[in-house]
Amino acid sequence: MNRKIIGTILIAILVAIGVIVFLQSPWYKSGEMTLPKGAKDGETSILEVSAQEKSDRDVKKFVLTAEEKQWQISEGEKVTAWTYNGTVPGESLRVTEGDFVQVKLKNELDVPVTIHWHGVLLPNKMDGIPGLTQDAVQPGESFTYEFIANDAGTYWYHSHQQSSIQVDKGLYGSLVIEEKEKEYERDEVFILDEWAVNQEREDLSNMGGMMMGAMSGDGEADTKQMYDTFTVNGKSGSAIDPLTMEAGEKARLRFVNAGYQVHHLVFPKGSMRVIANDAEKVASDDHESNVLEIAPGERMDVEFTKPNQETVFIGQEQNVEHAEDMIIPVVSKKNQGPYEKASLAQEAGVAKGISYGSEKRIFEKTPEPDVTYNMDLSMGMSMGEGMSFQINDQTFPDTPPIKVKEGDIVKVTLRNKGRMNHPMHLHGHRFQVNSKNGKKFEKPIVKDLIHVKPGEEYVIYFKADNMGEWLFHCHDNNHAARGMVTIVDYKEVYSPFELGGKDENQPN
Ligand code: C2O
Ligand code: CU
Repeated sequence: MNRKIIGTILIAILVAIGVIVFLQSPWYKSGEMTLPKGAKDGETSILEVSAQEKSDRDVKKFVLTAEEKQWQISEGEKVTAWTYNGTVPGESLRVTEGDFVQVKLKNELDVPVTIHWHGVLLPNKMDGIPGLTQDAVQPGESFTYEFIANDAGTYWYHSHQQSSIQVDKGLYGSLVIEEKEKEYERDEVFILDEWAVNQEREDLSNMGGMMMGAMSGDGEADTKQMYDTFTVNGKSGSAIDPLTMEAGEKARLRFVNAGYQVHHLVFPKGSMRVIANDAEKVASDDHESNVLEIAPGERMDVEFTKPNQETVFIGQEQNVEHAEDMIIPVVSKKNQGPYEKASLAQEAGVAKGISYGSEKRIFEKTPEPDVTYNMDLSMGMSMGEGMSFQINDQTFPDTPPIKVKEGDIVKVTLRNKGRMNHPMHLHGHRFQVNSKNGKKFEKPIVKDLIHVKPGEEYVIYFKADNMGEWLFHCHDNNHAARGMVTIVDYKEVYSPFELGGKDENQPN
């Protein structure tokens, strides 16, 4: 009898403790978990949608090991990098359209990591977003990503766990999906980036500097004060590998901007023509422009024809600090250097992400949207935490999601009301950019990233045709880390993962 009473009391105490612990736990407290999670009536887990079968496709297998490495950026400059397979950028992956791609990520770092396949249209659970599409891959563990390489183009991959830190430390690489019938024999990838080598990577909580920057009218003043070295394929200045080409030879050069600053690359006059942007072919016969403007996170492919000199240069416009770090010499086989000081051509015109219409459109005419979302981008400050970057006056995960259902046509109006540039990137979809500042594009542009500068307004449309929970965020990852992230939330599905937790899931 006594035992029974004691037992009952013990159980009651245990239950009470359980309830108290639950109420105290951080993800219950303070409404931190506003992500679309938890199975509500009829919702399916994202793990169960959009499966892709390998059937009889060619399988391309890779292993990417996340590991720490002392990385030589230039003569005399070494950094402690986090790498995929020991180099910065990580191993370049090349596959052919239609391939079934299998990448095993092994984590040998002592922090959790993931891989996000930037620009690739794939099943949601392969998107690499900790806390939304998977749990971060813990030290010593592995995770296998699988997807069909459906459309040819230039892509890149990077960690999406604490991306502001991990991408900065080198966890990125290129992924090229080649066409079945290749158009160019020569085909090269260049990934641009910025590093803090000789200075501590300053933090945006440095309010004084930030305020000065914000007032200066330079939309990148914040990121410019954080980094002191520019790199091309992980190398700076004279450590950059020259490109060996003969006069008259043609090549496809693919540029990826993995950094947070816009880069303007100057080409010899008449030597280049933009052929693709964010994996979409563009229709352009502009041979006049010789400056390529590449926004953070953006990809641009050009057809390059080597002019009649032995040595020419493709390099960052020289009007910004550290520009001399970012110059690619193009040399002939028999004249490999050393060469006189690099000199860039005069500028004749700028080609950028919105300069040319795409060959294939998503919508022929301006469609009637099922969902409209106004995305106001702004800056704020909070005591003790410094700057914040907001979508509709909120910071992630409190930003209002874009709620859609499969098949919806979604219209998003992006307005930059702050003083900093915001390269906004949508996962899992491409959108069509129909107008800028109220003016329609004659030829709309299909992309997955739109660079919105202060005061600018863009109207984009996309089709909700890839069920899942997808990020839409600023690709200046330092802005994302400080709030500028939202989610395209399909009503039919939910994410079984959570932010924080034992896996320390931190997607921004
Ligand atoms: Cu490169 Cu969330 O993206
Ligand atoms: Cu931003």
